[in-house]
Order: sequence, then C-alpha cells, then structure tokens
Amino acid sequence: MGLHPRASRDFLDTLVALGFLERREGKYSNTPSTDLFLDRHKPSYMGGLLEMANHRLYGFWGHLTEAVRTGKPQNEVRSGDAPFFEALYADPARLRQFLSAMSGLSRGAAKAIAAKFPWSNYRTLVDVGTAQGDTAAQILLAHPHLTGTGYDLAEVGPIFEEYVEGLGLSQRLRFTAGSFFDGLLPKTDVVVMGHILHDWDLETKKMLVGKAYDAIPAGGALIVYEAIIDDQRSKNAFGLMMSLNMLIETPGGFDYTGADCEGWMREAGFTQTRTEHLAGPDSMVIGIK
Ligand SMILES: C[S@@+](CC[C@H](N)C(=O)[O-])C[C@H]1O[C@@H](n2cnc3c(N)ncnc32)[C@H](O)[C@@H]1O
Repeated sequence: MGLHPRASRDFLDTLVALGFLERREGKYSNTPSTDLFLDRHKPSYMGGLLEMANHRLYGFWGHLTEAVRTGKPQNEVRSGDAPFFEALYADPARLRQFLSAMSGLSRGAAKAIAAKFPWSNYRTLVDVGTAQGDTAAQILLAHPHLTGTGYDLAEVGPIFEEYVEGLGLSQRLRFTAGSFFDGLLPKTDVVVMGHILHDWDLETKKMLVGKAYDAIPAGGALIVYEAIIDDQRSKNAFGLMMSLNMLIETPGGFDYTGADCEGWMREAGFTQTRTEHLAGPDSMVIGIK
C-alpha cells in the first residue's frame, strides 16, 4: 500500500481502535461491517459518499467558521471554480460514479422502505430525483405487483436505463426525463423523494411537497426519506452534520425534523402524516392525501 514503516503500525492500529480493521496475530483484515460496506467491489459498497468527502468536502469544511458566520456556501462557488453539479452533469463518467454512490448511500433505507410501507395498497410509484433508480428498484424487486417511474434530469436517463436493465426490471421500471422546477410531476399512487428536499430552501421544499400532492389521488402517499433529524434536534448527529453540509454546499438547503416535514405536508393538504425510522440515521416521513 506504500505505507512508510514509521507510520504503518500507528495508522493500522488506529483503524483497529476505530473499528474499521481487525488484527489477529499481527495480520490485519476487514471487520464484517467494513467487508460488507467498504469493499469497492461489492454491490453493498457505501463508500462513494466518503470518496466525495475526501475529494471535495474535506477541504471545504475547513471554511466551516466562515460558513457559520456568513451563512454562505463554501464549495467551488466560493473560489469561483465551475459549480460542482454543472461540471458533474457535463461529464458522463463522473455522473455515473456520483449516481452509483447515491445507490450505496440509500440502499439500506430503500430496503427498509420496501419492507415497512404497506405497498399492497398501491400499484404505481414515481421516484423523484431517482439517480440510478436503486430505491425504486429495491421496492419493485420486493413487490412484483408494482410498476414504477424514475424521474430525473435527462442526462441521468442512459445511466438509469443501463442499471435497471441489469436488474431485469426494464419492463416494470421506466425513466421519465424532466425537471421538478418545470410543470407537473407524473401522476401516480405514491411519490418517493429521497435526499431531495434537504438540497433546497423552505419555499422550494414546500413547492415540491405541493407538486407531490397534486400528482397523487385521494388515499395516495408521499414518502420523503433522508437523514431526518430527531424532533428534539439532539440525537441524530449525522442528520445535523448533513444540514451543516448543505450550508457548505448550497445557497439555502437544510435538513429538518420529522415534525417540520409533517407540518409542510399538512399545509399542502395531506390528512395523515407519520415519521418512521428506517436504518442508521435515516427515517421516512409519510403523508397520505
Ligand atoms: C442527492 S441525489 C438523490 C438520489 C436518490 N433519490 C437517492 O436518495 O439515492 C439528487 C437527485 O436529484 C436529481 N435532481 C436534481 N435537480 C433536479 C431537478 N430539477 N429535477 C429532477 N431531478 C433533479 C439529481 O439528478 C439526483 O439524481
């Protein structure tokens, strides 16, 4: 690995102490968790977010003090470089890598949504901001009676279609290109929004919840999931730090509690709302029209 002998023992033993490695008779190996989640060659790999943290966010977080004093983003925008997402969407290889990282990040939540939501009451879903489509795919794999649509910007289409074909779901899971800022969302029984609302300011969040409401029939559902902050804002450190990351990355984005999101849903007209824990730091907020 090219480690200097002076550094290797302390470095590897630090990883043992942090729970990332095991050491037996002087030999180091992955723990069962790191083997599952941090081996790049496994479909359960969730290190894509950590790679992005390494390449981009680590440096930007060095300007956290400025961010908390000014409320202004501290990413590429600060240094006048091309905005990250603009550059990303112009480069299909990097876009593929980013969208695949999203699948790794969301897989645990997606499987829990497939297991916990009463899908037998519904026939269709639209996954808004679907990326590779893994969340919709996990739900459809578990519920053969469902058909779904992945909705995202046009550049995402070919990457979505290749991924979904690989899972053998092309007949039941289709792509629709569009921007949720223009026009209406496709009509469906259930709208899913994962890691979407936290990117935007309050007005845009409410606009998106309203568009989901308009897309579903009476009895239809909106499922919002991400690292929802606990209502006391004192426990979900990952959710709170994700919100600080939105401060670093966006002009107005922030993470929020289940009670916040249920409030926006009620304001939009949803009659029943609830928040359910999924996996790790993630929860889902459900609104029934
Ligand atoms: C953070 S990713 C979330 C991916 C996935 N929902 C998940 O949770 O794993 C945000 C997604 O929103 C999409 N997106 C961004 N702006 C959009 C817009 N205006 N209309 C539709 N999708 C958009 C991005 O292309 C990206 O796939």
